[in-house]
Amino acid sequence: MLKPQVHYQSNSTITNRRAHFLLPKSFINGKELASLLVVKSSRSPFNKARRYIRAASEPTTIKAVEDVPQQSIKVKALVTVIQTIGGLLTSLGIERGLDDIQDLLGKTLLLELVSTELDPKTELEKPTIEGFAHRVRQESGDVKYEAEFEVPNDFGDVGAVLVENEHHCEMFLQDIVLDGFPHGPVNVTCRSWVHSKYENKQKRAFFTNKCYLPSQTPIGLRRLREEELALLRGNGQGERKRGERIYDYDVYNDIGDPDANLDLARPVLGGKERPYPRRCRTGRPRCQSDPSLEKKKKDFYVPRDEGFSEIKHLTFSAKTLYSLFNALVPSLGNVIGDAELGFPYFRAIDSLFNEGIQMPPLSRQGFWKTIMPRLFKVITDGKDVLRFETPQTSERDRFFWLRDEEFARQTLAGLNPYSIKLITEWPLKSKLDPVIYGPPESAITTEIIEAEIGGIIKVSEAIKQKKLFILDYHDILLPFVRKVRGLKGTTLYGSRTIFFLTPSGTLRPLAIELTRPPMDGKPQWKQVYTHNWDSTGCWLWRLAKAHVLAHDSGYHQLVSHWLRTHCATEPYIVATNRQLSVMHPIYRLLHPHFRYTMEINALARESLVNAGGIIESSFSPGKYSMELSSAAYDEMWRFDHEALPKDLINRGMAVEDKTAPHGLKLTIEDYPFANDGLILWDIIKNWVTDYVNHYYPDPSLVVSDQELQAWWTEIQTVGHRDKKDKPGWPELKTPEDLIEIATIIAWVCSGHHAAVNFGQYAFAGYFPNRPTIARRKMPSEEPTEEEWNSFLEKPEAVLLATFPSKLQATRVMAVLSVLSNHSPDEEYIGEEMEPSWADDPIIEAAFEKFSGRLKELEGIVDERNSNKNLKNRNGAGIVPYQLLKPFSKPG
Ligand SMILES: [Fe+2]
Repeated sequence: MLKPQVHYQSNSTITNRRAHFLLPKSFINGKELASLLVVKSSRSPFNKARRYIRAASEPTTIKAVEDVPQQSIKVKALVTVIQTIGGLLTSLGIERGLDDIQDLLGKTLLLELVSTELDPKTELEKPTIEGFAHRVRQESGDVKYEAEFEVPNDFGDVGAVLVENEHHCEMFLQDIVLDGFPHGPVNVTCRSWVHSKYENKQKRAFFTNKCYLPSQTPIGLRRLREEELALLRGNGQGERKRGERIYDYDVYNDIGDPDANLDLARPVLGGKERPYPRRCRTGRPRCQSDPSLEKKKKDFYVPRDEGFSEIKHLTFSAKTLYSLFNALVPSLGNVIGDAELGFPYFRAIDSLFNEGIQMPPLSRQGFWKTIMPRLFKVITDGKDVLRFETPQTSERDRFFWLRDEEFARQTLAGLNPYSIKLITEWPLKSKLDPVIYGPPESAITTEIIEAEIGGIIKVSEAIKQKKLFILDYHDILLPFVRKVRGLKGTTLYGSRTIFFLTPSGTLRPLAIELTRPPMDGKPQWKQVYTHNWDSTGCWLWRLAKAHVLAHDSGYHQLVSHWLRTHCATEPYIVATNRQLSVMHPIYRLLHPHFRYTMEINALARESLVNAGGIIESSFSPGKYSMELSSAAYDEMWRFDHEALPKDLINRGMAVEDKTAPHGLKLTIEDYPFANDGLILWDIIKNWVTDYVNHYYPDPSLVVSDQELQAWWTEIQTVGHRDKKDKPGWPELKTPEDLIEIATIIAWVCSGHHAAVNFGQYAFAGYFPNRPTIARRKMPSEEPTEEEWNSFLEKPEAVLLATFPSKLQATRVMAVLSVLSNHSPDEEYIGEEMEPSWADDPIIEAAFEKFSGRLKELEGIVDERNSNKNLKNRNGAGIVPYQLLKPFSKPG
């Protein structure tokens, strides 16, 4: 209820009321026309039962059809609209002129205040109070609009504001502050696009920053809360248009483009045959050549508020990405020409970082440099030169990529720290069908391992002491070998790489096994390589390492990065928007973690993981890349193992130990990713715990929260439908369950993603360290005499021919350079407080604690990186491990 009024009205006539409704003179003077309150009984489609009290611009149109209360307070709404590219202020032409007139008339935005209460007499929703907001000033990129309202004293608290955009183009509303209430201002954070009323008559509803569980929703807002969710869910029909806000699901039926070329047909991912998470539904027309697939279109729909920020100074990152895929990547093809041309010698690889590649001028000289200053360093004679930055890794140690200890160290502190596993069973054996894939026993024998360890320990003892580890790409890759070998310019093996944990706590690679299944009438082939002490053995070892690195590189990109962080997250985002109201505290907890993910995923479907895209054309599995990612989802992915502690336990990299920090004892003490990651996991979990406990003080509230239950059910049964009957889905019955689920989602979007994303250029920019593809089989695999001799004659040439081609390497380098760079508007975890958190002192304090602990982690990471005893992150030429530093800056 509103407290005592600020000003009193006479209870006599309408005229008397009219006098009181007059707004301050400043609104009447000059070009701003007078605004008066008009009582009106019109209805909006949003608000069937509501009646309105309107502030209008014409004093003569005042009508009274309501029994206006005798006492009211004056409330001012200050609306902040952000100046955007393509939005409000830069649109040109006739509509702009009309919009200017609307601004001058003071009719830019029609606001309606919604009460949290029902009318006690009618038990219907109270009439809303309408008022036109008019432009008052511009402050840098923000434009301020104001409206004034007379709010009847018995109106109740304002719970929402309905907004109608009177302009001809959409506007980006930052927030609305309602000032004048005795208990302080009411904040409404919008951060959303509001469509023009000429495109869609539906009014936008923005709720105040106060969080409510569904059962606690004030009675006056209940219908609005449900209607808003229904709008966001849509009806699952028709093609989604730009500007819409509908969140729905579909399978991955848009990777291929068979109408353009039948070679670009790709199977649908999602379903029994090829399980996959769901993507956001776009509803595009079907392909003529294959109606199970959606037609490729230039514009990929994403719900309006999921798009990149269009705020003027923040458009850089979006522009850079679009230019990368639509201009730079195709241009590289034109400049380099022969797609299969490799690097003739290592000096040619170095030249990418020195002389660079001359690019044809695009539209105007200097264009490239403006868009991608990190990549384009020099402009000479009217030509832009693409010169790659030397990655930090090779800047510090030019030969880092050649060293075995660095190869092993990167499994713990590199770009893919998610694959290394403890060996718990010996001998190694495949689980694949021997009839199809040949004998399952590994060729890595006890004798080989004991000889490599140097006889200091038996294999059985090493396993008991947890000293043997594996990078196992055998069973996941072997089923793809035949298919991939049918493609031009690539090859594949199943691989196993064994490591030994040395007394100094570092890993030493012992053996690599490469396997080819029976094919083309030939039996299974496999060979074990060790770091031999003869020249031929040494070169074969280097070549085998290149194959394993290509496997790891593909697995990293398709599984650790794309599948587990980007693709698996999309259903969480869709479900959160469909099932949790923006007023729901869990919506507000998770929403900041989802920023831009859907837009980036759409861009990836358009240019990275699509048929013929960067991944297919540059990674070993070629056109089977996405099928490989589907196989990994089917066999390995489960929700509960996405929690860092469970993931580590699952890989044998940690065991539960209540006496150890974080309740876990690491198998390799100096495992930089796990050590930093566990602190971050705990910090996130503590914050989520404080947050959940605040909103769910009574444990039974979790079960009775219908939105929350629908959300969790939808994630399992729709978003991750192909996994719904598989293990790994925690129940959602208690606050503890909710804490674990929300922490997993937040961790995957923050820590997990940072660990596998931001080091991409540092570790893979100098591609010999992580080739994305091995284009040639090993010279030792059933070679012709000529093949073997040419290997003996010039092994370096074989290694260069195995590496990616010049076009493959440079395209990937350009993409990694952009993707691993933090965007200028990057949001750092714990840096910016959500407005709704700031409105609640308990949550505000919990957030301050969260933020403080993240700052502590910064210091801990620095301290660890300078600790000489931690040899997996400190040593000659080693780049410090900073990928999980919460506030690490672009790099
Ligand atoms: Fe990413």
